[in-house]
Amino acid sequence: MELVPLGPGFAAELRGVDLIDVASSDAGYRAVREAFEEHSVIVFRNQDVSDDMQVAFSRAFGPLERTKVGSLAAGSFYVRATNMAADGALFSTTHRQALVNRANQLWHTDSSFKATPALASVLSARIIPEDGGETEFASTRLAWDRLPDAQKEELRDLVAVHSYANSRDQIDPALMTPEERAALPPVRWRLMWHNPANGRDALYIASHAGAIEGMDGGEGHALLARLIDDAAQSSHTYLHRWRTGDVVMWDNRATMHRGRPWPGSQARLMVRTTISARDRDGLDQVRPNSVAGVAAVTFSVKEETHRGRRVCGWRWV
Ligand code: OGA
Ligand code: MN
Repeated sequence: MELVPLGPGFAAELRGVDLIDVASSDAGYRAVREAFEEHSVIVFRNQDVSDDMQVAFSRAFGPLERTKVGSLAAGSFYVRATNMAADGALFSTTHRQALVNRANQLWHTDSSFKATPALASVLSARIIPEDGGETEFASTRLAWDRLPDAQKEELRDLVAVHSYANSRDQIDPALMTPEERAALPPVRWRLMWHNPANGRDALYIASHAGAIEGMDGGEGHALLARLIDDAAQSSHTYLHRWRTGDVVMWDNRATMHRGRPWPGSQARLMVRTTISARDRDGLDQVRPNSVAGVAAVTFSVKEETHRGRRVCGWRWV
């Protein structure tokens, strides 16, 4: 296996290894796992990818997520991110799926809003548009390393509240259905994710994080916005330009990513599988109750009417 660095201090292309090697051999898995832990974003080229192959590869890293209520193919292993309807027609830019795609263009880390967050995501390109449609990555591990020591100490034990509503409501408060809101109450994670495999720490932030416990709303929001902006300065990002046969895997504990726009007249279809984090991946230490002295928090539900539709949000009190 050969490694070709791609980004500013993270992200690497792997050569001489294919998805099937990971799915079919412990040695293949161990080599790729090591590269994943080290480089945070790994790229495979020229893969003959199918849904089965993607699942077999992904499953080597841990248990797979099932897609949430409200997704295309809900309850399956596959997140299908596309602007194409089942009959091949392209959605208009005002269709709900187009709004979903726009929400994907916010800096985020997958599934930080879920009760069990994600270790990693595996994304394969099935239909690539002519223009745009790249995926951009930022290392929140390197962003953590860049912080002054005094600030690391301040941030280390803070707890952020993550919710799907926080990112979706930035695009359109009517985007989430009442079923999605009911199924996805806010969750709390420490602001720093420690990787037990190599001892590296990373900021655990991005667009699902809406508040910081113990800070008033404005203050917490401003801190999160500043940390996200610092992590995602363009000189620190890796922009992946998709080619046919590309499969990209990233570490959701140590990166943020965002989709980039493309013309609505061009088709794009991406398929994602997602691996859940376990305690061995540092999940136990990112749970707030692993920090002594962090006060319990309660949530209240607020309901309001937006454009004639009832929406229900959460805030912590
Ligand atoms: C994802 C995602 C970005 C893209 O699949 O989790 O954010 O460019 N994709 O499609
Ligand atoms: Mn994503």
